[in-house]
Amino acid sequence: MKFNTSSSNLLKVKSDSLILPTGSQLNSYAKILDESLDGAVSSIIQSGDFTGKLSQTCTIHTFNKAFQRIILVGTEGVTSSQHYFAIIDAVNSALLKTPSTNALWLGEGLGENHEWLASMVARSSLSLSYQYAGTGKYPARPKLKKVVYWCHKKDQTIAAEKGLLFGKAVGNGMNLARQLGNTPANICTPNFLAKEAKRVANNMPNLTTTILKEADMRALKMGSLLSVSAGSVEPANLIIVKYKGAKTNVKPIVLVGKAVTFDTGGISLKPGRGMDEMKFDMCGGASVLGIMNAVSEADLPVNVVGIIPAVENMPAGNATKPGDVVKSMSGQTIEVLNTDAEGRLILCDALTYADKFKPETVIDIATLTGAVIGALGKITSGLLSNDDELATQLLSSGEHCDDRAWRLPLWEEYDKQLKSNFADMANIGGEAGTITAACFLARFTKKYKWAHLDVAGTAWISGPKKGATGRPVPLLMEYIKTKAMSNQSS
Ligand code: BES
Ligand code: MN
Ligand code: ZN
Repeated sequence: MKFNTSSSNLLKVKSDSLILPTGSQLNSYAKILDESLDGAVSSIIQSGDFTGKLSQTCTIHTFNKAFQRIILVGTEGVTSSQHYFAIIDAVNSALLKTPSTNALWLGEGLGENHEWLASMVARSSLSLSYQYAGTGKYPARPKLKKVVYWCHKKDQTIAAEKGLLFGKAVGNGMNLARQLGNTPANICTPNFLAKEAKRVANNMPNLTTTILKEADMRALKMGSLLSVSAGSVEPANLIIVKYKGAKTNVKPIVLVGKAVTFDTGGISLKPGRGMDEMKFDMCGGASVLGIMNAVSEADLPVNVVGIIPAVENMPAGNATKPGDVVKSMSGQTIEVLNTDAEGRLILCDALTYADKFKPETVIDIATLTGAVIGALGKITSGLLSNDDELATQLLSSGEHCDDRAWRLPLWEEYDKQLKSNFADMANIGGEAGTITAACFLARFTKKYKWAHLDVAGTAWISGPKKGATGRPVPLLMEYIKTKAMSNQSS
């Protein structure tokens, strides 16, 4: 999909669909268009077919104009960024039902911040055109091929241009994460993810990959991670993708993504109902690959390292058993009371490994606990952090791009629940499963500023629209972009 800006004569730019955001009172652009259509816009408002109500859409066919149709969208009462997303997504849903291969957005009708608005338009166009392309393939080519963002003034188009580029990178990153998430676990194995990481790094500038095999991990004493893959015939991989967009002395942001390509629960076997959805248990790792792709595409002046521990969690004769004690790379020992609490067992070794990159911050992304759905539903990702400033930045990044998170505490009272009689800690606590899981991780992240995003509720949708969402790619891209800007100015 191509994205462009334009500031040339509105009535003469050729397009299949012209998107006109307006309330019931026509703005100046709506008036120009209304006039050129002999009052068609105002009469459709008079008739009551279009009221201007927030995100209502209405299509007018023009028959012989440069634009074949106008898609009106209501902007009445727009106050929050969530409202803007509702408007943009409503237009794109309507637009994608038409045979349009190109569209012209009237940015002016939407608001003032053209960089931000254009980025949301681009992201939404890509994200809503995503279709699962089939097993082992890449996202299908959308029908909509070209999106033009129109501004009145030339200098506004410069801001919009920047926004389009960023939004396109975010949208493509989300769609990559979704495609990997949706790919079934008999194909999307730890080896498949390693190959995908190499493919991404070969296709995109400034990316390099390293794959650590089980023997390498054994040499690094990653006993906790290896205890999860023990029962699987699929060997574990530790996938490392580096992006160098800034000077070597700029400390990297390190992202660690849980990639359990299938989570049966292991010997603590999960119930059968809905177990297919555990193919999505690699969505944290997939989001890291999506972000690596996106930071490279957006050419952000920042250094980022993505670490993806990829394993399959299976029951078998040689699988880890409840009560087994394993030794992590950090030297701390863990009593595995439940083999279904496997995410933290792979993350803890990856988090210890992360320190080797002398990180500025470390953020892990994981479909870690069912409990986060009880706490926040499927709307909001759980955020836990050992650093207040980092937590605040992540919350506001999510707010800014409608990919929101909410913070939960990491207090000692919760950490205590991890006590074990047979090791330094147990791998499960009592109540508040999301918090005790994060307390477990916190024991491995003391050396740096760290945040954990529990995306078990937000990384995919269940039901008839079952599929990966690409979250939290937008949130983290927003965060990384903000960081990159502050690197540049300091
Ligand atoms: N991958 C699951 C978390 C999960 C469960 C995500 C349901 C989405 C929906 C994770 O590995 C897991 O099994 N967690 C257990 C932890 C428990 C054994 C302490 C859980 O949440 O039930
Ligand atoms: Mn599990
Ligand atoms: Zn899991």
